[in-house]
Amino acid sequence: MKLSVIGCGYLGAVHAAAMASIGHEVVGIDVDPAKIEALAAGRSPIFEPGLPELLLAGVESGRLRFSTDMADAAGATMHFVAVGTPQKAGSNAADLRYVDAAVTALLPHLSAGDVVVGKSTVPVGTAARLAELVAPTGAVLAWNPEFLREGFAVQDTIAPDRLVYGLPPAPEDAAVARAAFDEVYAQALSTGTPLVATGYSTAELVKVAANAFLATKISFINAMAEIAEVTDADVTELADAIGYDARIGRRFLNAGVGFGGGCLPKDIRAFTARAEELGRGESVAFLKEVDAINLRRRQRVIDLVVEELGGSAYQKRVAVLGLAFKPDSDDVRDSPALDVAVGLNGLGAEVLAFDPEAVPNARRLHPQLKFADSAEQAVTDADIVVVVTEWKAFRALDPSAVAELTAGKTIVDGRNCLDVDAWRGAGWRYVGLGRP
Ligand code: UDX
Repeated sequence: MKLSVIGCGYLGAVHAAAMASIGHEVVGIDVDPAKIEALAAGRSPIFEPGLPELLLAGVESGRLRFSTDMADAAGATMHFVAVGTPQKAGSNAADLRYVDAAVTALLPHLSAGDVVVGKSTVPVGTAARLAELVAPTGAVLAWNPEFLREGFAVQDTIAPDRLVYGLPPAPEDAAVARAAFDEVYAQALSTGTPLVATGYSTAELVKVAANAFLATKISFINAMAEIAEVTDADVTELADAIGYDARIGRRFLNAGVGFGGGCLPKDIRAFTARAEELGRGESVAFLKEVDAINLRRRQRVIDLVVEELGGSAYQKRVAVLGLAFKPDSDDVRDSPALDVAVGLNGLGAEVLAFDPEAVPNARRLHPQLKFADSAEQAVTDADIVVVVTEWKAFRALDPSAVAELTAGKTIVDGRNCLDVDAWRGAGWRYVGLGRP
């Protein structure tokens, strides 16, 4: 099929490359010339495992092109809108300006029978509004939320755990959209991927409901960590024990510095704002508590470091290991790790931070921070070490080797990801979150 993908960020770049890899002819469009230039040369502007290989193969095969000109979307049968919906400045609501701009710019290039597919995470009601804009062109609008996780984005796009079609209300339009979806996702469907075909509102809500649930699960275990901290209990053992109940499940029960990234935090806030507009604010009022618990964990890590330093971080050398919001990503949007580094720096600590991939992005946002070129450099002469992103390389650090380099022998494990016995065995004072 001929496809266009509007917006080539974390979502769009992966979608474009993944669709080309399964045989579709794809043009990716973005307003950022630098991004397009990199992508067109087969270079990934983001760190995402597997993406560079897919981009190169796509570009070399001729099935994957990139452009800054929206006119290049003409001729495609499906147009995926994958632009960002960040949090609005000064509000909890989602900022829809990029979605609106993308759809408006696309209108002159649409033909009757085309399908415009929204993939961005939007407040419920957005698709119905956009469908009215699209209708005069003879194209139809559908919604198709994605659930890709950064770090696994390629795999999640090619072999998703479910597909959701948000189809238009008119049966003839729904049939057009459905046929297009079935064709574009034929490969995933042929392997038995579960499919939920529904209307706009459900499709829009599925995405925010899923993210709200995941955020709630993480904040639930972090709330248990807060209780564990005053009762000498161990939250990781608690998580293992409740996780054996198949109804609960162990995944997303890792207590630590909390969730961040470009989705979970802003999506629960936007959901709260939209529910309030709908007169149902109380239905999701608990999400404010979920957000509050989550943000408290960042402060908790900072407080622990200060406490371990004897009450003041001023002029103390702090090695911060991790800046990305999670491992295998260079994304620092709403990153708990970066917040901890910035917070400690603000308290007068001499912070030296390292992350295997996220240093350039962190430096752009916080040029006042000092960055190391390696974990070893970051910990050299440090009074204390703080791990805030659970990169494999940090989990694999040899406690004895690190001890040779540091001044102090205290490690704060903000992700509960280190081998406690190994660190304590090597003479370290190990401090986890919600564990004795
Ligand atoms: C999330 C959703 O998982 C995905 O389905 C959606 O499409 C986009 O948002 P992502 O932002 O890539 O994906 O990250 P995810 O793996 O969900 O992790 C989110 C945050 O939660 C990270 O900061 C992670 O470190 C944190 N987390 C996750 C925990 O603190 N504990 C856990 O047990 C799991």
